[in-house]
Amino acid sequence: MSTQTVFRLTQAEGISGLHATQEPIPTPGPHELLIKIHSIALNYRDTAIATSTYPLPIRDGVVPTSDMAGSVVELGPLVTGFEVGDRVIPPVSASYLYGAFKEGVDAYGSVEDGMLREYVVLPAHIVVKLPTGAKIGFREWAAVVCTGATVWNAFYGNVALRPGDTVLLQGTGGVSITGLVFAKAAGAIIIVTSSSDEKLEKAKALGADYTINYKTHPNWAAEVLRLTNGEGVDHIIENGGLGTIEQSLECVAASGVISLIGFLSNAGQQSQPSILMPALVKAVVVRGVRGGSKHQLEEVVRYMGKHELAMPVGKVFGFNREEIVAAFEYVASGKHFGKVCISLD
Ligand SMILES: NC(=O)c1ccc[n+]([C@@H]2O[C@H](COP(=O)([O-])OP(=O)(O)OC[C@H]3O[C@@H](n4cnc5c(N)ncnc54)[C@H](OP(=O)(O)O)[C@@H]3O)[C@@H](O)[C@H]2O)c1
Repeated sequence: MSTQTVFRLTQAEGISGLHATQEPIPTPGPHELLIKIHSIALNYRDTAIATSTYPLPIRDGVVPTSDMAGSVVELGPLVTGFEVGDRVIPPVSASYLYGAFKEGVDAYGSVEDGMLREYVVLPAHIVVKLPTGAKIGFREWAAVVCTGATVWNAFYGNVALRPGDTVLLQGTGGVSITGLVFAKAAGAIIIVTSSSDEKLEKAKALGADYTINYKTHPNWAAEVLRLTNGEGVDHIIENGGLGTIEQSLECVAASGVISLIGFLSNAGQQSQPSILMPALVKAVVVRGVRGGSKHQLEEVVRYMGKHELAMPVGKVFGFNREEIVAAFEYVASGKHFGKVCISLD
């Protein structure tokens, strides 16, 4: 029987609790695909799971990570619509495929085994086929699985982003840089914040119109209002949580949208009853975003494939324990710009 290398996480040991095992390469059932994984991309969530700071349940011994791009190597006997060699990505959850988010949805890599392995069997109906003509590689496709569907949901899942709208992206991690790629292609005016001038230069090179260092400008909302002639921004990708929401409410435009996505700045802060008053006064939509559905990921793939929009990948690590642990630690340190991938090729 052929075997593959699979990484599992021993919870109590943190990131260093990742260990390699040899396990059988599974056989696809009648409606399933066997997929060879070519590239894996990391999210903040993966480091939170590895360090036991993730707020949702985690299974000890789980195969971590949700985002990958691969190619079909074997089809179950009843599968239609796929061929061997098709390039594919999965959504982050097998139970959030279409329509609105419902309770009980969980992503791969926390309870359900994820993608840190060489081969995986997935139900054919959840898998998204990638365009054949586009010049986008496996690592760039892996890099949009979670952040692509999430940002698409934020920009198009309720009040749609329009050309000429102003967008504020907090930080330069995976969510924000995905937002930069999409907002640029949509003809929006983009403001990016970061703790690092070096990362802000990279954001400018990718098309950011304005940048603000939130360390040297702790009152960055005033700077956003100055840059927008007092009007504020139409769409905010809210990654900070409690530490940023007050300023987001200060600099959102009337009838603007704040997509509540991350909680990177929450440590030790208490919520205050009056904090959401500006949302009422400005009649803004403050909307929680729980990833994106398979349908939204399909729209991402169609959009990115058509416009040949490749997600910039900041750094790539190899598929061995030492490199994988270094990749998790790199994302946990926040030194990265955009996405970090693990390549199996
Ligand atoms: N709701 C959802 O469905 C969903 C989906 C995906 C991700 N998320 C969440 O979204 C957040 C971002 O995820 P990610 O994968 O993009 O993380 P990431 O790649 O690790 O990005 C981290 C970056 O966020 C920036 N940041 C940290 N604190 C900040 C603050 N106070 N103000 C502004 N920026 C700050 C930093 O950018 P600089 O280094 O440039 O300062 C940091 O490098 C996380 O909380 C994650 O759990 C939620």
